[in-house]
Amino acid sequence: MSKFMDWIDARFPASKMWEDHLSKYYAPKNFNFLYFFGSLALLVLVNQIVTGVWLTMSFTPSAEEAFASVEYIMRDVEYGWILRYLHSTGASAFFIVVYLHMFRGLLYGSYQKPRELVWLFGMLIYLALMAEAFMGYLLPWGQMSYWGAQVIISLFGAIPVIGGDLTQWIRGDYLISGITLNRFFALHVVALPIVILGLVVLHILALHEVGSNNPDGVDIKKKKDENGIPLDGIPFHPYYTVKDIVGVVVFLFVFCAVVFFFPEMGGYFLEKPNFEQANAFKTPEHIAPVWYFTPFYAILRAVPDKLMGVIAMGAAIAVLFVLPWLDRSPVRSMRYKGWISKLFLLVFCIAFVILGVLGVLAPTPGRTLLSQVCTVLYFAYFLLMPFYTRLEKTKPVPERVTG
Ligand code: HEM
Repeated sequence: MSKFMDWIDARFPASKMWEDHLSKYYAPKNFNFLYFFGSLALLVLVNQIVTGVWLTMSFTPSAEEAFASVEYIMRDVEYGWILRYLHSTGASAFFIVVYLHMFRGLLYGSYQKPRELVWLFGMLIYLALMAEAFMGYLLPWGQMSYWGAQVIISLFGAIPVIGGDLTQWIRGDYLISGITLNRFFALHVVALPIVILGLVVLHILALHEVGSNNPDGVDIKKKKDENGIPLDGIPFHPYYTVKDIVGVVVFLFVFCAVVFFFPEMGGYFLEKPNFEQANAFKTPEHIAPVWYFTPFYAILRAVPDKLMGVIAMGAAIAVLFVLPWLDRSPVRSMRYKGWISKLFLLVFCIAFVILGVLGVLAPTPGRTLLSQVCTVLYFAYFLLMPFYTRLEKTKPVPERVTG
């Protein structure tokens, strides 16, 4: 075995990569459960790719046959139903995991220097993931696939001058048709998965270049032993590979419970109108995107003017990109920030959830007002950050990680 490895290592840096990224990658010893979500995101990514490849084997990307081919997968293809439910539940699980992963970043200031690029690659993954989910949702060619895509694509029409041509260019037709379905299929199945995989590699390379942050936000590289090993670091393998298995088991319990018992999740993971084939002559009574887009959809609807709404929705995502430069706090972790930061993060999270709920519901004047208030709170968290993080009193950060 060792001779074989010597042969490989003389030609490819296999052992070096294993050591750099696993057995000699020193991670802070105080990771908590919030650090499970990175490895869980990787797990869900693999699930989506594997089940996606197998779904592709029986799916037909044409307006005439797509809906029926999904029915065929559900009823006739052996284990087709489980492939489909693993994939559809996986899409929602991806966003749950990624939102918690991002929340951990906000909580512990993981986006701060020197991890700005880790955050930026993460944000690019998030953008690509939204595009991937949006395009995937058109493929079953149900009523919500069709009309959801219709609403979102028509938003580009609000852009002055080029709007009309742009929507036509995206659709490849005067209305959403088999041509749109075909290009979304190509992007969903080939182009975007490659982009996402590449970005995940860059994300992890950037993280391993600077090292992981931790719940204390303490830089473990500052205190090293005589061999240059961080005193508060432990090798990722075997310590965190084994610990991550705990997260995987808990996750799989919940995930499998949904796949086997609640795959539609009351209409949130698979929306009811999508059990009816797309019909360009029949608009569903109420069109709402899937739950993971609804906070941004609520921001869009909170603004009365269409163009301004589109701008607000874009800004809500764009502002996350500049987060590393908005936080001026001398400390990273929320544990040592002042009460204003804590309050703002709490209010931001509540506003985000309320926006998510409002985005599912049909608008009423009261709900629109609430979504306007929440939109203001959403942006206040970011735009006031340079001020409150500089003004507030922080607690002293310990020299070494705690507990
Ligand atoms: C496919 C999606 C993603 C995958 C597979 C992924 C994977 C990972 C992994 C394996 C880690 C190291 C383990 C951990 O710290 O949890 C990590 C760390 C990190 N990720 Fe992601 N990630 C994804 C998306 C994102 C997104 C959308 C963001 C934010 C915009 C993000 C921001 C971060 C940050 C800031 C860290 C460093 C955390 C720290 O050291 O405290 N990631 N990611």
